[in-house]
Amino acid sequence: MIIVSEDFPIRVEQRGAVAIWTIDRADRANALSRPTLLAFGKLAREAAQNPSIHAVVVTGAGDKAFCAGADLKERQGMTENDVRVQVALYRTELGPLDRSPKPVVAAINGAALGGGLELALCCDLRVAAAHAQLGLPETSLGILPGAGGTQRLPRVVGEARAKEMILLARRLTADEALAWGLVNRVTPAGKGVVDDAVEWIRPIAEGAPIAQAAALEAIDRSFDTTLELGLELEKVSYDRTVVSEDRREALAAFAEKRKPVFKGR
Ligand code: COA
Repeated sequence: MIIVSEDFPIRVEQRGAVAIWTIDRADRANALSRPTLLAFGKLAREAAQNPSIHAVVVTGAGDKAFCAGADLKERQGMTENDVRVQVALYRTELGPLDRSPKPVVAAINGAALGGGLELALCCDLRVAAAHAQLGLPETSLGILPGAGGTQRLPRVVGEARAKEMILLARRLTADEALAWGLVNRVTPAGKGVVDDAVEWIRPIAEGAPIAQAAALEAIDRSFDTTLELGLELEKVSYDRTVVSEDRREALAAFAEKRKPVFKGR
């Protein structure tokens, strides 16, 4: 079991096939300290190898903040070089989450600002509580979103809307974020965002892991390529599913009029 501490500030639990990772730093609005980034890297690398995890939900403790981005208190004591080293950590330690073969869902329980929204952008899907706010305020602080925000936000909402959010330091409400496609779903009133996210992704938890990983890889790589090459990549991903036991199980289940039981093989 992992004990939550300042050195490892992420609470880990498992509900069935879904791992839930909660940044447990409510007193700092769940900001991303160096140990928090290292913990994400460690968990994402381990989850990629763990067959009992089919999906991951990332959230923050409490209901005020999902994550307020960089830990500005930790940053106060840093030199310019320390800041550069810390920004590089976003890439090395959140990269494994972004590239995770298991679907990752952000359950945005409150404000997702700066690096907090960039963390959510590393996830494949985003579910927001109705009171959540989402924004990249960095340019109003004399910097720019340096944890992937300038690259991942336009891929999700398009160039014009990304420029509007970044240049105007504009915060969106959950409903605005839904309308812009920045979040996939807003949790209905009276429900907790984590419970809602876990319920919503049941088809993933019960689904075929090889097919999901292959689909994620094909979709993620589509942004960096031509259509022709992308279609080749899709074929390579498809071939991985053709040889799987899960594909044969789905066909057998269809013939026998029952639900398939997938084993990730
Ligand atoms: N780093 C470190 N500590 C942070 C923090 C951050 N990024 N953001 C908030 N905190 C701390 C606050 O200083 C406060 O601690 P204190 O009581 O010791 O002063 C505590 O977290 C709670 O924050 P508070 O502002 O009182 O809570 P709130 O619920 O009213 O508002 C936020 C929450 C996240 C909306 C607000 O704190 C905020 O806007 N933070 C700045 C986010 C930001 O600009 N991030 C971009 C960085 S590039």
